[in-house]
Amino acid sequence: MVLMKSKELAMPKSPETGPARPLTGAHVAVFGLSHSYRKADGRVLENIDFEINQGEVVALLGRSGCGKSTLLHMLAGLTKPSEGEVVINGNTVLDPSPKWVMMFQAPSLYPWMTVAQNAALGLKFTRRSDEIATRVPEVLDLVDLGSFADRNAQELSGGQQQRVALARSLAPRPEMLLLDEPFSALDAFTRRSLQQDVRRIAKDLGLTLVIVTHDVGEAVRMADRVLVLRSNPGRIAEDTTIALTDDERSGGSEAFSREHSRLMAVYSQVAGIGDAPTENDFTQI
Ligand SMILES: Nc1ncnc2c1ncn2[C@@H]1O[C@H](COP(=O)(O)OP(=O)(O)O)[C@@H](O)[C@H]1O
Ligand SMILES: [Mg+2]
Repeated sequence: MVLMKSKELAMPKSPETGPARPLTGAHVAVFGLSHSYRKADGRVLENIDFEINQGEVVALLGRSGCGKSTLLHMLAGLTKPSEGEVVINGNTVLDPSPKWVMMFQAPSLYPWMTVAQNAALGLKFTRRSDEIATRVPEVLDLVDLGSFADRNAQELSGGQQQRVALARSLAPRPEMLLLDEPFSALDAFTRRSLQQDVRRIAKDLGLTLVIVTHDVGEAVRMADRVLVLRSNPGRIAEDTTIALTDDERSGGSEAFSREHSRLMAVYSQVAGIGDAPTENDFTQI
């Protein structure tokens, strides 16, 4: 038997993501989670149990109002579940932490500040200003905005602003990114490139990524695994793996169409949104 050195064990080789890096992503476990905002309104979420591995990309897919954002807020420690618990890296989540960062549809930048100043805010708020000089150029390069550092945020396009928000989130080296439909206000082309880049960055850094979406294509392009939610009350109806290589995820391949079609059928059945998809559903691929 050949014994591996501990360093090799900590740095698994990945054929798809280039050079091996240590896994730094959060491990998430959700146990018996249920939630009601007001007793009289009944349960928004019921008996939710799942686990997310370090460095895994998981999509929460479901119709509007099924409780996706509520669940994401609970993973982030922003809302406390009525029952059950969220455990991250072995600790029950009681409060928000800079180790897991939420990103929303609106990038929420300060328009009068430069791109670099906006990207530095996460470090400032966590009192790590001494890291700004080295870390900000690194994260701006990661999101392809290295040459925009001194531009005012308001001069940027919507997609570029969302990239600045991403850089700001990445600067404090979080273990997990939580995205709540962050690309839905962008045009299709910009959305695609962000979907690809965010997945690539998460994989390169070993980050755990949870993305809330009602878009089947987005789930297929980005996620290793999709949890499909049913409504009223929100429950996990399906837990399914997206078996595609990174090349196949850019669309156009038979494998992509097959996975898209399969997930669309699962989603339609769970959400009760009409018949299984037809050829016309693939014009966007
Ligand atoms: N702060 C809140 N107070 C009361 N009800 C809420 C609150 N936030 C969400 N809800 C309700 O909880 C349900 C799930 O909402 P949400 O988690 O936002 O769903 P989704 O993100 O899937 O659209 C909806 O019926 C919504 O009206
Ligand atoms: Mg929502």
